[in-house]
Amino acid sequence: MINYKCYTVLMKHKIIIGNWKVNPITLAEARRLLRSIRRTAQDLKSTKVVICPPFVYIPSALSARKSEVIVGSQDVYFENQGSFTGEISPLMLKDLGVEYVIVGHSERRKMGETDEDVAKKVRLLLEDNIKPVVCVGEAEHDQAGLYLDTLKNQIKNSLAKVQKKYARNLIIAYEPIWAIGAKESMDPKIIHEMSLFIKKVLSDMFGHDEALSTPVLYGGSVNFRNAGDIISRGEVDGLLVGRESVNGPGFTELLKAVDSI
Ligand code: 13P
Repeated sequence: MINYKCYTVLMKHKIIIGNWKVNPITLAEARRLLRSIRRTAQDLKSTKVVICPPFVYIPSALSARKSEVIVGSQDVYFENQGSFTGEISPLMLKDLGVEYVIVGHSERRKMGETDEDVAKKVRLLLEDNIKPVVCVGEAEHDQAGLYLDTLKNQIKNSLAKVQKKYARNLIIAYEPIWAIGAKESMDPKIIHEMSLFIKKVLSDMFGHDEALSTPVLYGGSVNFRNAGDIISRGEVDGLLVGRESVNGPGFTELLKAVDSI
């Protein structure tokens, strides 16, 4: 039987990932935003900050970075090299210094990305020593509880190509689709239940220790007001933040609120 209660204690740092999506629209604004995040991040004690800007801003974000802000990307292709017009590969990102990559975001799945595509990306990233932030989440939290099967299948299929020895480098981001871009986040009590469910699926796939050491984050309408409550009552290891991550003052308040827990 897994003692899930102790796993949050085992995790040293909370992880806050900012998914900037297609924002801001100029490099100058991106630089300003990063500067303000960096100023706050340098005083944080127990919070790791990862910023995932659009691809075109990554070199600038990396060249200006100090160790307090880690740079990630919002997606990647599932081959390292070859004739794939328009794509960007894991090895290219690694060469720049990118450490985290979001994969399987529901906005990309909506454009046609399948669990199979996600599984190929996750495998390649792990082999290339980059941490995949694997997004999963149901479209509807139905009364009959069918969403549990949906979620289990999505996790199993998206991680189908992961070898056990790499499992500790995974990060799971639970983002119920209906809570993304919404007015309110999911209730932290239910977030906690869902994170336990995800840990159980991971434990069945990779074993108890791997499940305990895999961070499970929550995403969907997180802001500076609800972030602390989601971390403490939702008992998740961090947050994947959309809109609030491109709002400089809001995001810095969010980081401080999370760090004070
Ligand atoms: P919002 O925080 O804007 O709801 O977006 C969540 C998200 O999709 C992060 O990846």
